Parts: sequence; structure tokens; C-alpha cells
Amino acid sequence: MHYHRKPGWLIPESKATPESVFMQRRKFLAGSAAMAAGGILGAAGGIGCAAEDDTDKTLDLYPAQRNPEFTLDRPLTEEEVAAAYNNFYEFGPVKTISRLAQRLTIRPWQVEVGGLVNNPQTFDIDDLIRAMPLEERLYRLRCVEAWAMAVPWTGFPFSALIKKVQPSLQARYVKLTTFLHRTVALNQLRVWYPWPYEEGLTIEEAMNELTLLVTGVYGHPLPKQHGAPLRLITPWKYGFKSIKSIVSIEFVKERPVSFWETLAPKEYGFWANVNPAVAHPRWAQSTERMLGTDEKYDTVIFNGYGQWVAGMYPTLREREYFF
Ligand code: MTE
Repeated sequence: MHYHRKPGWLIPESKATPESVFMQRRKFLAGSAAMAAGGILGAAGGIGCAAEDDTDKTLDLYPAQRNPEFTLDRPLTEEEVAAAYNNFYEFGPVKTISRLAQRLTIRPWQVEVGGLVNNPQTFDIDDLIRAMPLEERLYRLRCVEAWAMAVPWTGFPFSALIKKVQPSLQARYVKLTTFLHRTVALNQLRVWYPWPYEEGLTIEEAMNELTLLVTGVYGHPLPKQHGAPLRLITPWKYGFKSIKSIVSIEFVKERPVSFWETLAPKEYGFWANVNPAVAHPRWAQSTERMLGTDEKYDTVIFNGYGQWVAGMYPTLREREYFF
């Protein structure tokens, strides 16, 4: 993710290291980062297996039963690949943040659900996960940067939580917020970013069958770099909508302005529905590259999930809701 008033250290996608070179360098960098970080991270686990916090009381719920309704048109991305190539700006503006993300403490963790609701509640994360119907779904994720992955998420429909808190009639949008912890997530010390990371959906989008609050991946709890202990997944939208490490879910009347929209409104809009025909101002969106294999696929409108979501966007001007 880049934005037009970018500091000098942000480079355009076209100049980014090709994936194959990146993957060769990754082993070396992971080794050096581990040595450098060893002192502060202590016993943090390795890439891809660092999720299981000692005090996570939900381990028995994994793997959850797979929902057969959602199938893939391509192989799953290797777990180690997905776990080592992340966007999590709180820990830095590069993809290699997986070890730094282990600094985040994910238990105890509370999620405040409030705003325009009849039944506001603050949930302890373990109680919330246990109260919700967990299932596994195979979804594609398409990043606005034109890379993609296919992964088995574990989570529960956002609609199940919404039913618990009962939004009032004035609620039209839902605003989601990530933690703010500047001494743990050191990139939050950089004041030109509008921390904390925020995202938003319409209530209708949040209620859509596809919209998941995710607690796990590849059959176990989420690794921290993927947004433990709770993140959003909306597979028909660009990946930046899928906010990580959520601490607050607020039902509001006005449309929220997200982190990326604040930084670069002409590049990262509110709707962010995947559409190969609407280019990003600085690169095409017609194809996507799979992480790990570099396979190219044609990008499909709504990332191929039109049968579930196209009906939500009949009245807006075309360009608007693909941006
Ligand atoms: N959530 C937070 N809090 N901070 C971030 O920087 N990056 C987003 C999204 N959620 C981001 C975030 C972007 S741009 C993408 S593509 C996905 O997370 C990447 O998810 P992954 O690292 O699990 O693949």
C-alpha cells in the first residue's frame, strides 16, 4: 500500500522486489531478523506457528468444520508463504513484519461492540469466540497491490455478532478499529499516519453472508501477523478493508473514513469492490499474481463473489462503488 504524498522510503509497486527474488531473500532476512529481534521477542514462535498464545482458551475449537458452500478455482497458498508476506502497517511499511508482530500481546483481549445498538457489550475474546458459530471457509483474498492468495479462514459470520447487539434503526454503517499501542507497534510512532487503523462497512455489507470475523487460519488460531485475535474478511473487496486485530466495532450513522482513505482518498476509496476494469491510479487491476507460485490469473469482478454481493450495489454510480 502506498500513497501519493509518500515519504521517500515508500517505493512504487513497479519497483518492488519481484516475488521470486523476495522469496530467496526471505530465508536470509528471516534469519537475520530473528537474531536481531531475539533479545526483545524472547520465546516468540516461528513464522506460521506463532499464533498459539499460552492463554488462548479456544484451542480446542480448531480445526472448525469446513463450510462446503465456498470452493476455490485455484490451489491454496502455502501457509508459510501467506504467513511471511503481510501488510500490517502498525509494525512497518514492508511485507516482512511477521516477527515484529509477535510483540503484540493477544490475551487478555477485549472487543467493545457499541454505538447505535440496543445491547452494547464488551466481550472477552475467548468468550466471544466460544459464543459464536465457528466454521472454516476457503476464500480468495485480492490485495489492491495486485497480489492474491487463497486461504482457509476460520471465523464466524459478522451477522451472528450483529444479531447479539441489535443495531438501532439509525445505524447505517459499522466502524471497526485496530489497537493503538505505540510502544509495541513501533510504526504507530510515525505521526503522519492517521492511527489507529480504521475501516468501515455499510450495515448491509456487514450482514452479508460472506462477511466473516476471522479468528483462525489453516486450521488453528490466527498468527499475529495475520491480525490475531480477530480480523475482518470481505472477500469481494480489496484486502485493505480486512482490518486486523480489532478492538472496537461501533455502529454509526455517518460513513466512516478509513485509514487509507484519509491518507490517499483518490487511491483507496470506501467501497473498494474488486473490479478488473477500474485501474488503480498507478497500476492496472486486470490481473493478479498468486503469492508463492507467481501464477497469474485474470481478476474477476467482485473477486468472483458477485452471486452473493452484486445485488447490494444497484443504485450507485458505477465508478463510485468500485473505488
Ligand atoms: N489491518 C491493519 N490493522 N493494518 C494494516 O496495515 N493491512 C491491510 C489488511 N488489514 C492492514 C490491515 C492490507 S493492505 C491487506 S492486503 C491485508 O490486511 C493483508 O492481510 P494478510 O497480511 O493477512 O495477508
